Amino acid sequence: MSRIALFATAPIVSVLLLPLVSSAQQTVPPEKVVGRQLCKVCHVSENAVWEHSSHNTKSWSLLDHPKAADFAKAIGVTNIKGASACTQCHGTQQKVRGTLKIAQGNSCESCHGGAGGAGGWLQQHCDFGFGRKITRDIKMADLLADRAKETKEHRAARDAACDKAGMRRSANAFDIAANCLNCHLVPNEKLIEAGHAMTTRFEFVEWAQGEVRHNLLLDATKNAEVPTNWTDELRNGPGRTAEGRKRLMYVAGQLADLAISLKNRATVTSTKRGSLGDEANDRILDLQEELEDHGVLELKPALDALAGIDKKSLREITANDKQIYGKVAGTVAAAARKFVEAHQDGNKLPAGIDIPTKAKGEAYVP
Ligand code: HEC
Ligand code: HEC
Ligand code: HEC
Ligand code: HEC
Repeated sequence: MSRIALFATAPIVSVLLLPLVSSAQQTVPPEKVVGRQLCKVCHVSENAVWEHSSHNTKSWSLLDHPKAADFAKAIGVTNIKGASACTQCHGTQQKVRGTLKIAQGNSCESCHGGAGGAGGWLQQHCDFGFGRKITRDIKMADLLADRAKETKEHRAARDAACDKAGMRRSANAFDIAANCLNCHLVPNEKLIEAGHAMTTRFEFVEWAQGEVRHNLLLDATKNAEVPTNWTDELRNGPGRTAEGRKRLMYVAGQLADLAISLKNRATVTSTKRGSLGDEANDRILDLQEELEDHGVLELKPALDALAGIDKKSLREITANDKQIYGKVAGTVAAAARKFVEAHQDGNKLPAGIDIPTKAKGEAYVP
């Protein structure tokens, strides 16, 4: 068989690079999605974990739930399994040469960002600088051999390029968690009003360490406790531990929750009991307290911005909400990214920060 190029050139799309996950575009832009089958060419074991997770086994089937029609009616959706808000969150929308295809469930790019389109990160994220042609019959072992020889400079440039192209990696702990919450906190006031659930107890370590966990990269028979790419001594030097990683994830998850709750509070029209706004308020108040307790220096800009909000204003909807809460959400996101960068070695965080030990479901081992 001839070695066909794996990735066709995709149509040019303009992508707005927003400081925080945008509310209008709740999930990944369909133009950028290449689809899980391509990821699977190399990430066989990660894919096996995904196949056993609720994102595959349950998410889509909820669209056949007895309440689905009521939810659809509440937000003016007529074709639930078509190009709807429902399939943005219970499926993965992909545009192939102008035609919309909908994959069932939340696949790789729902979390890691769309890999294709103009300037997409797909090719680049596994190009180690030796000119190896990426084809469908490529061997992961060959790639990993290249990886072991990659220069520090090449790697830094590659990581930066992937981040810029919108890839969410383990190193981007805040962004990857904010993306989970942007879906799991269901930022749609009308849906919540109609009784659609939201994940009110989302804690990042707990929710990422169970059935979702797929930290396998280097040894495909092990589902490592925390990301192997992140702990890898060869790449990052010694001293990164699972405990440090979880501590970093824990705080990054709280910051993500705060940022998304502020973003949601910026857009709501009501704060009555059980509403999206009510939930956002509760989270903002709780998280402020929890984050203050950590006593972490880098969080000061976020906490100062938060302290600037008159808490009485939380319950009152005003024309300025978008500006006030939107701005603080941006400040929190910026501080959170700096914090994550400064604490890639989570061991420098105060040991008093307790790491959650619960896990949502069981980690699958291929
Ligand atoms: C041609 C093989 C190949 C394909 C196809 C591929 N990957 Fe990868 N991927 C790799 C290799 C090799 C690495 C290790 C890169 C490194 O060490 O930085 C990797 C690393 C990653 C990482 C971890 C990066 C980090 O720095 O933590 C993520 C996340 C990832 N891939 C997601 C995906 C997704 C999602 C897709 C499909 C859209 C995909 N990959 C397609 C080979 C591939
Ligand atoms: C912003 C993302 C998002 C959108 C939009 C969305 N869902 Fe969901 N949906 C979720 C998440 C996340 C859950 C799981 C919440 C939890 O933890 O219980 C869920 C849960 C559900 C459930 C489980 C039971 C319940 O009472 O909520 C049903 C049914 C459902 N969704 C149907 C729909 C339908 C139909 C639509 C479109 C009209 C839709 N969803 C739109 C994210 C979304
Ligand atoms: C695009 C939307 C979306 C994104 C992004 C997303 N999820 Fe989900 N998730 C869902 C839906 C829908 C379900 C199905 C709800 C259910 O299982 O009740 C689900 C289910 C789950 C479950 C199983 C819940 C249960 O009750 O057993 C876990 C755990 C989970 N998600 C964790 C995560 C984590 C961690 C992230 C980010 C790394 C994430 N999710 C990102 C939509 C999403
Ligand atoms: C529900 C969201 C979600 C989905 C779906 C998802 N991932 Fe991930 N992935 C993550 C998170 C979160 C991490 C980092 C875990 C952490 O922070 O501890 C990660 C880490 C990775 C890594 C790096 C692991 C390491 O050891 O460094 C690879 C590679 C990867 N994912 C590939 C994939 C592929 C391929 C798919 C689809 C088959 C996929 N992911 C689906 C959320 C997701």
